[in-house]
Amino acid sequence: MTPHNNAKLGDIAKNVLMPGDPLRAKFIAETFLENVRQVNAVRNMFAFTGTYKGKEITVMGSGMGMPSIGIYSYELYKFYGVENIIRVGSAGSYVDSLDLYDVVLANSSWSQSTFARVQNGSTSDTEYPSEDLNARIEKAAAKLNIPLHLEKLHSSDVFYTEQNVDGYKEISSKYGCACVEMESFALFHNAKVLGKNAACLLTISDSFTSNKQTTAEERQTAFTKMIEVALETFVD
Ligand code: ADE
Repeated sequence: MTPHNNAKLGDIAKNVLMPGDPLRAKFIAETFLENVRQVNAVRNMFAFTGTYKGKEITVMGSGMGMPSIGIYSYELYKFYGVENIIRVGSAGSYVDSLDLYDVVLANSSWSQSTFARVQNGSTSDTEYPSEDLNARIEKAAAKLNIPLHLEKLHSSDVFYTEQNVDGYKEISSKYGCACVEMESFALFHNAKVLGKNAACLLTISDSFTSNKQTTAEERQTAFTKMIEVALETFVD
């Protein structure tokens, strides 16, 4: 047990899916897993363990932002023996080539965040997912015939900014970031520091370059595709 997790050792699988929203974790577990049991409820950051095609998997919320995913992912790796975490989240597109509901697999994550510097003195502004886990995700997506966009992410500490509304264009052109989310940099950093594996799958939920309207059905279809890719990754 940790200050933020009252699951017992052995209650959490080696393979974990992390959506931001704990109620999303509940939905994923109840919809896609069998033999589901709830293993954490501290601060309502629900975690559920069950099986998918016979493989044990835990789904746990990460909360929003790097401080939150930083705590939960560190504890899962360090104190619960977790080996692989796939974040399953959403992102805002910075470029026309990434449309609403496209599924993105991060190949790197750039950030202005001080998370890595405070955590272990690292001065790098870019963190990377596990190559091995990414290769397994790509294989699962190919098997399911679901196209993935491999992209560099902007992992931001700030959702509401008073900066120039076109500020995203500079981040996109200068650093090559195709979309923005708020957690991958800390997750990848923790995995690296602790010798574990992390990856990040995202669906595009909003766009900085278009005002296209969407339907609830489209959102659900895109979300389901992403979850199927993540779960199938752990089957082989
Ligand atoms: N996640 C989804 N959309 C986002 C946005 N526009 N900014 C930061 N994180 C996001």
